[in-house]
Amino acid sequence: MSKKPYYITTPIYYPSGNPHIGHCYTTVACDSIARYRRMQGYDVMFLTGTDEHGQKIEQKAAEKGVTPKQYVDEIVEIFKNLWSYMNISYDRYIRTTDDYHVKTVQTIFKALYDKGYIYKGEYKGKYCTPCESFWTESQLDENGKCPECHRDVVEAKEEAYFFKMSPFADRIEKLLTETDYLQPKTRAVELVNNFIKPGLEDLCVSRTSFKWGIPVTFDDKHVVYVWIDALSNYISALGYENEQYNDFEKFWPADVHMVAKDIMRFHAIIWPAMLMALELPLPKHLAVHGWITFNGQKMSKSLGNVVDPLVLGERYGADSIRYHILREMALGADSSFSNEIMINRINSDLANDLGNLVSRTVAMVVKYFDGTLPAEKQSDPMDEELINMAKALRGIVDECIDNTTLNIALAEIFKVISRANKYIDETAPWVLAKDGANKPRLAAVLYNLLEAIRISTSLLSAFMPSTMPKVWEQIGATADDVSYENAATFGVLPQNITVHKGDIIFPRIDVDKEIEELNALITAQAEKAKAEQDKDGANLEPLADIIGIDDFFKADLRIAEVKSCEKIPKAKKLLKLIVNDGFGERQVVSGIAKWYAPEDLIGKKIILVANLSPAKLCGVESNGMIVAASVGEDARVIFVDKDIPNGSRLS
Ligand code: ME8
Repeated sequence: MSKKPYYITTPIYYPSGNPHIGHCYTTVACDSIARYRRMQGYDVMFLTGTDEHGQKIEQKAAEKGVTPKQYVDEIVEIFKNLWSYMNISYDRYIRTTDDYHVKTVQTIFKALYDKGYIYKGEYKGKYCTPCESFWTESQLDENGKCPECHRDVVEAKEEAYFFKMSPFADRIEKLLTETDYLQPKTRAVELVNNFIKPGLEDLCVSRTSFKWGIPVTFDDKHVVYVWIDALSNYISALGYENEQYNDFEKFWPADVHMVAKDIMRFHAIIWPAMLMALELPLPKHLAVHGWITFNGQKMSKSLGNVVDPLVLGERYGADSIRYHILREMALGADSSFSNEIMINRINSDLANDLGNLVSRTVAMVVKYFDGTLPAEKQSDPMDEELINMAKALRGIVDECIDNTTLNIALAEIFKVISRANKYIDETAPWVLAKDGANKPRLAAVLYNLLEAIRISTSLLSAFMPSTMPKVWEQIGATADDVSYENAATFGVLPQNITVHKGDIIFPRIDVDKEIEELNALITAQAEKAKAEQDKDGANLEPLADIIGIDDFFKADLRIAEVKSCEKIPKAKKLLKLIVNDGFGERQVVSGIAKWYAPEDLIGKKIILVANLSPAKLCGVESNGMIVAASVGEDARVIFVDKDIPNGSRLS
């Protein structure tokens, strides 16, 4: 019987800097699902890759004095090395610079044009002449200037092609609200209210102001702009409209596209619209997860807060890192990364609970039975709870995989591991061992422990692929014993099983020492990133003219507390905040949405420029300004101590 196909994808990442823990999350999550599906007997296609075109890459390459292709080639190698280190079992790696992908994108673009969904128009926007970049109103900085260099922008137009979105609005709304396409579905409301209800805007899909992109075949001064190029990867990688592969019939539609919330809109609205226009079936699920944050901010290269997964992996092992990031991220929420939480979790779950369970059990079989259990056993009703929990585990993990709730899958597996540890305390094998008459009972207890280990680690192997085989070696399990088929049956290991004592699988980590060393590493890394950023000087604004103290006091700077905060539909850069300035509440609009999610700010105390004349940003009234530090592209809000009363004046 032929196996059922299963197709899962990560986003294709921008190779504009080294990969970080954030990229690792999606890739490791997809890898774990892909491995689990393979265990279940599916014929899996797991796709990842890199999104290599665009102005940013063109600029970065120029800064380095290399061609864009040379620039991306180097970074793609770093991505691939990391994936190999993290045991990512992708079946295919797509690069948008691959010839076959270029051909597919050109064919799709032309097909959409021929069908009347792509038309030529005029892209109007704010143009920054020094940066040669167009910006939308909402992307501009708080002063209405270029968000890159903070200089003046001018109104400008550029000929461009657009993709008509409105014909698909009703179908997309139904897809989001009436089907289980979006996981978690709770995000559908936000998409419908922010983007569909106000009327879907046509999407600009070509540019003439830069060259590093796929040329439009019938109008070669244009290159295809971002999303048609990027999203098409999911089908070009299967051979849609190219000769490179021949798997489209077999694997399309995809079972799961997994992405973080920053690119949900493109996958929830634009991608379905493109597929509808091409009359192709829609993917079955879009699994959206939150961000890994560091000190409350999205981890990203440009913030210099990147935690290098290779550094962590070398210290604690790839599986420990995989376990930690998967266990921490709850569906629908962000997960805050901290070295301390990670090390404590490795110690408590992996070293104490799992590692100890394995080493204690194996050591007892060696100590009391010379390593081989006798066939004669004596069961007891007190065994039932552990046996039933272990037998039910596979069904629970199956459901979590279906719902992409991987943190719950791991929590459930560790419930069985904890239950097994408790069973050791309840049965007290060391007491049973004192009396030869209890040998059959002692043998049954140790056998049950080995079985609980076998079942939990066979399911865990999809998440932690390199360490579980070491456990199996110690408990004497064969590949067949730890198959998915055998994971719902108790009593699979031979009754006279022989175990093999081995090394400690997860050594305990000295928390204080490690934290100190890691913090030093991260500080060094952040300083290096900052030095690189400051190197060209252009990023630092020149010092302003000298002023007198009276001039300074003209600005009334007050401590205020953020009471609520929300995104502004159609203004990607802006957040609307209600703050309490000690006198009462007021509304402020701030251009910091790129760096902060609303939940990062609520409850925090900030510095408010309280006597700015009111202004309208994208039509929304703002009464004051939130103080942030900015260097180059980055902005960071200055948070202050919670104890400082609202309304206190800075002097
Ligand atoms: O958006 N926490 O590429 P990208 C969790 N090329 N996940 C994170 C993360 C973080 N801090 N940072 C990044 C692009 N990610 C486009 C995609 S797809 C057709 C085109 C992960 O390199 C997460 O999966 O900016 C997010 O969706 C993806 O990286 C964006 O990667």
